[in-house]
This record gives sequence, structure tokens and C-alpha cells, in this order.
Amino acid sequence: MSELLVINGQQRISGRINVSGAKNAAVAILPASVLAENNPVKITNLPRITDINKLIEILKALGADVIEDEANERNLLIDPTNVNSHTPPGMMINKLRASYYLMGSLLGRFLQVEIPMPGGCDLGPRPIDQHIKGFTALGATVELEHGIVKIKAKKLQGAYIYLDVVSVGATINIMLAASRAEGKTVIENAAKEPEIVDVANFLNAMGAQVRGAGTDVIKIEGAKELRSVEHCVIPDRIEAGTFMIAAAATYGDALVEGVIPKHLDPVIAKLKEVGAGVEVGPDWVRIKAPNGLAPTDIKTFPYPGFPTDLQPPMMVLLTRAPGTSIVSENVFERRFRHVEELKKMGAQIKLEGRTAIIEGGSQLTGAPISAMDLRGGAAFVIAGLISQGETYLRGLEHIDRGYESIESRFRKLGVNLERLAETE
Ligand code: UD1
Repeated sequence: MSELLVINGQQRISGRINVSGAKNAAVAILPASVLAENNPVKITNLPRITDINKLIEILKALGADVIEDEANERNLLIDPTNVNSHTPPGMMINKLRASYYLMGSLLGRFLQVEIPMPGGCDLGPRPIDQHIKGFTALGATVELEHGIVKIKAKKLQGAYIYLDVVSVGATINIMLAASRAEGKTVIENAAKEPEIVDVANFLNAMGAQVRGAGTDVIKIEGAKELRSVEHCVIPDRIEAGTFMIAAAATYGDALVEGVIPKHLDPVIAKLKEVGAGVEVGPDWVRIKAPNGLAPTDIKTFPYPGFPTDLQPPMMVLLTRAPGTSIVSENVFERRFRHVEELKKMGAQIKLEGRTAIIEGGSQLTGAPISAMDLRGGAAFVIAGLISQGETYLRGLEHIDRGYESIESRFRKLGVNLERLAETE
């Protein structure tokens, strides 16, 4: 049954919210748990989003015992002892980009893995050549047959790997496999995202030796065995950024709690540039925006650059700032699919290749629109809040992949949106 969100326009954010655990760390840590062989791991602060629920189903299908903490659904105990398959079920893998982390983890554990090509948000071509380059350097052979990636190794041997593209997924995947390889692996031109550091901390707590995560050179000394561990997932900087941008775009006032402010530096800098008031505490950020915003330019880059995942929400904000703003998307080739829908709401945006030129200042009007990817979907919620009239937002399955009941989250911030089942 399909659902839609009804969003009343011209609402103002006002309230406080605690952010969830980071999706992009959690989707790597769950697959990484199979590396612990017969040692259970406890993971806390998991976001209960559909991407995580799907991964739990996949782990169970592979044979893992997954026990939910009755007192707290964000805590899971995973016992990977009975994982006995290196072929995750194809049906479940479809549409889940992060399923690619099962490549590194199952290869590390079984020296082989067979897995369908990963799905996920359609942001243009999303090749996995750098993941493959890494696995090959570690001694594996990789074949693609009828859409199935088949990876095999007699043994994994530490290696020097230079990534041609700065890739979050390839960096983590190589870390996972290398943590069970013999000897030392060096990843040069590694991605530096905080989620990579979180995965490295998880592996290190299990007894691996990963050094340099968070810089562009990561060194991994493989371990024969990894042990039990309890790990708390870091806060989700993208969810936090979504609420911060929503607060500024609605001329609102939000206290976003349970964050690591350093991870939000690029967002804070841009919100200040558009004229929002930003106060930063040890683990919170308060955004208080005046009635009226200034235009600015945004260029997305790998961390610590401005995150591509917050480009769509920021673009919505810029439609409100009188004047010209320029947004350059440097990470993904096709991450402007939200623009067509925003135009239906009256946004004045012109696309030139990977650049969007926004003439801000005109009032958006509510419209029936559809999310086509996760972060574009979150941006449409903000667009609905600042529009005049009602917005009917469909394609919620994309948003549910990364936000826990987005309507309840936004309600905490004092705005009203309603999820309705759609009658045929
Ligand atoms: C991850 C995040 C996603 C975020 C993105 C960039 C997860 C689950 N998803 O996605 O939310 O938007 O980082 O911060 O963590 N590339 C190649 N070859 C490869 C791998 C990547 O050419 O083998 C290219 C991609 O097409 C893209 C760029 O490198 O243009 C960055 O991609 P990457 O960092 O790998 O993104 P994901 O891991 O897919």
C-alpha cells in the first residue's frame, strides 16, 4: 500500500530534537559484525530506518542470530557464529546500496562472496571499480556474471592500494577485508568521512589495527581473529544537518542535540553565510534564523567539504534567499533530480551540467510531488513547509531508508505533517 505525506505550508520550525545514530556508519558496522566469527557483538544507537531493518533481515538469512533488546530497539546483539553462507539473498540486496559492505566482510570471513550488484539511490552511474581494485590488490579475483559479483581468494594478503577516486564505500570495504588479511594494507587517497572513523573504531575495538582513519592514508594490520565488542554508533550528521537547514529555511529556531558539532562545520559555515544565527555547544547546535536569508554558493566535496547529501535541502533553502545562488555538485554526476519537482512548486532553477543556478526570493507553492531518492525526499519536506498551501509528497519509501518516521521527527520540531495511506 502506498503512502503520502500531507504537508501544510508556511510553517515555522520551533523545538528541540535528539539526532539518531548515523545511517552511513551503521550500514557498514552491521555487515562488519560477521568478521567476528564466533564472537557476539553488541551495537547500540542504531537508527531504526528501513536500510537497517533490511540489513538485519539479510544477516538473519545468512545465519546470524540477531537479538533485539526489548528495552531499547536501538540496541542489537549480533552473534555471527552460525553465518554459513557467502551468498546473500538477491531479492533482499536489491535497492540497498550499502549491501556492498557484505563484499568486504564476507570476503574477509569466508574468502569468497557472491552478491548481486548493489542498488540504492539513483544518483547517476555509481560504479564499484575502486572496491574491486582494492579486493584484487588483496589477492582476490573478481568476476561479474549475469549481474552477480563473484569474489574469491585463496588468501588475502595486505597490499598498497591507491584509490583513483575518493570513495567512502571503497575505503570502508577495503578496510573490512584488509582487517582479516595477512600483513599490512595501506589505502592512499582514502575518504575521510566521520563514518569511516566510526567503522575503524569498531574494528579496532574488535582487535583489528586500523590507523589513520579520518586522514587520507589508512594503514591496516590484519588480525587472525576478532573479538566481542560493544559499540555505540556516532550521531548522524546528515540527519542533524537536515533539521538545521529546515530551521533556517522556515525562519525558525531549533535546538539539535546529541551531535558532534565538528562534523557539522561545513553546514554551520554555510548557514552563517546565509544569515542564520548559529550557537554551538559541546554536543548541540542551535539554529535561529531571521525573517530573510541571503544567497550563497555551495560546492559539494568529500568530507570535510560540504556534504553532497545536504545539497538538495540546501537548495530548497536557497530558493527563499532573494538573489542568485550557485550550487555545484562535484561528487555525483546526476544529483539534481529534485530540481524538476522543485520547479513544479515554482522554484526558479536553471541547470547547466553539474551546476544549478537558483534565482531565489519567490514564494514556492504546494504541489503533488514525488521523492526519487532519499535526500531529495528530505528536501521536499522542507520545500512543503516553506510553501504556500498544501504539498502532497509521494515516494516515501526513499525517505524511510534514511529517516526514522520523518513526520514524527519533524513534529518534535513543532510542525505538522501527516502520513496517510493512499486509497486506490
Ligand atoms: C556514500 C554514502 C552517501 C554519500 C556518498 C558521498 C553510504 C552508504 N552512502 O556513498 O550517502 O552521498 O558516500 O559522500 O555511506 N566512485 C567510483 N568508483 C567506485 C566508487 C565510487 O567512481 O568504485 C565514485 C562515485 O560514482 C561517486 C564518487 O566516487 O561519484 C563518490 O562515491 P562514494 O564516496 O563511493 O559514495 P558511496 O559510498 O556510494
